[in-house]
Amino acid sequence: MIRALRPAGRLAAAVLLAGTALGGTMAFAAAPSATVTVQADHPGPVIAKEIYGQFAEHLGTQIYGGIWVGPDSPIPNIHGYRKDVVEALKALHVPVVRWPGGCFADEYHWRDGIGPRERRPVIVNTNWGGVEENNAFGTHEFMDFSELIGAGTYVNGNLGSGSVREMADWVAYMTADNHGSLVQERRANGRDKPWTLNWFAVGNEVWGCGGNMTADYYADLLRQTRTFLKPGAGQPTKFIAVGPSDDDTAWTETIMARAAKEIDALSMHYYDVASLNSVPKGTWKVKGSATDFNETEWFASIFGAYQIGTYISHHSAIMDKYDPEKRVALVVDEWGTWHDPTPGSNPGFLQQQNTVRDAVVAAISLNIFHAHADRVRMANIAQMVNVLQAMILTDGPRMVLTPTYHVFDMYKGFQGATSLPVAVTGPDYSQGGRTVPAVSASAGRGTDGVTRLALTNVDPNKAAPVQVRLAGLKAGKVTGRILTGPAMNSDNTFDHPQTVVPADFGDAKLSGDTVSVTLPAKSVVVLELK
Ligand code: AHR
Repeated sequence: MIRALRPAGRLAAAVLLAGTALGGTMAFAAAPSATVTVQADHPGPVIAKEIYGQFAEHLGTQIYGGIWVGPDSPIPNIHGYRKDVVEALKALHVPVVRWPGGCFADEYHWRDGIGPRERRPVIVNTNWGGVEENNAFGTHEFMDFSELIGAGTYVNGNLGSGSVREMADWVAYMTADNHGSLVQERRANGRDKPWTLNWFAVGNEVWGCGGNMTADYYADLLRQTRTFLKPGAGQPTKFIAVGPSDDDTAWTETIMARAAKEIDALSMHYYDVASLNSVPKGTWKVKGSATDFNETEWFASIFGAYQIGTYISHHSAIMDKYDPEKRVALVVDEWGTWHDPTPGSNPGFLQQQNTVRDAVVAAISLNIFHAHADRVRMANIAQMVNVLQAMILTDGPRMVLTPTYHVFDMYKGFQGATSLPVAVTGPDYSQGGRTVPAVSASAGRGTDGVTRLALTNVDPNKAAPVQVRLAGLKAGKVTGRILTGPAMNSDNTFDHPQTVVPADFGDAKLSGDTVSVTLPAKSVVVLELK
């Protein structure tokens, strides 16, 4: 069976045909179990670098302890930002950070987080553990942090409990360069020139923690609010509307029908929860352990990772109806695995360990985003440090990079690359009567001219021999990196931080227009073709 990973539009048929023809010419070389065709001669849209964005909410130990320790901390820091985390993030070329929430955003009043730190009010973080929030990390700290790591900025406005004026003033405070009192206040607080505000969202999950609104009610509020959001001259700010969760196409339909003209992007949230992707379906209450899981739960997570592709297709089809030019982006600004919290941790802190399973989920998801590069133009993994599918874990002065971090590192050459259509044929990986493709793939030509091919074998037991056919590409050399671990649940801990780390991969052989490779079980591989 041929599965096309959404080759760009009219190319689909051509790629499918190419795959069929392949069956006739290649299937017999070493009886390969999978074939991958890369249509290098039919380039698709650019993979927005913002697909590699991250999400940093005031939640648990993410901001306080994970990113910000304050200038007086014994933990090495740069003006209060922990040095090890800043360096790790810089190495990853993080393109954009979303802040301050999440559910936290709709209780966040930006004025609490400006001015001298010792005078900022202490509030209670009612969403996440009921802990005190002293507002030491506010607008200046976030915008300066983004500049420090070289990332773009995505600020999420408070629609749920704030006012139109509050939101409008915040946008002006960050972006204006005039003589108004807001700008004078910003200057008095130490920032002369405006920051660059790349993205601004009008609310978060307004269908839930952001206000329990109906789509119609939100569409009205969105239109009203957006009218008053006026970034300073020359700012690139794009405005994002709250979009659907999972497969809620009715929400997408209403917002696109009633407010598409007012926005630049529609957000989408999707969490991969093993219990919800199990048969029989479980509950949010018991999601499944991050580390202590069996193959059935592994399968559920992999199944859930593929699911986002179906949902994106559904939402894209609706967006195509109202916006055939694809002006409005779909931004998946919360995605990732959500497991049970680490035993012994504050359950409100959403702390979880990260294993080979999370790495494979990340790779599948990124491959899907690449395949939908025409519409998906930003994604923000939830979250950056110490929360959910984190890139980085910290404990006091210690820091460890997770398997998911390493996937993002291996994939960073895809940022800004031109997508290349890819078609994958069999085999399947099956469990309990359900199947998913055993091999997930995507390809792109990087801004450095290098063609990259990402290949993941989702089967935790069997290696996957793959024949790759490069249509329209003459390569002289193939090199690669691989990420895997001894077990499905291998992880990196503070005491053993190097269990799941990328290694050089020399097992890909190039012969003419074909690359032969055997992907070890549960592995993520990125090949470079020069
Ligand atoms: O990422 C954790 C939470 O999940 C966010 O605050 C919220 O938007 C979503 O429900």
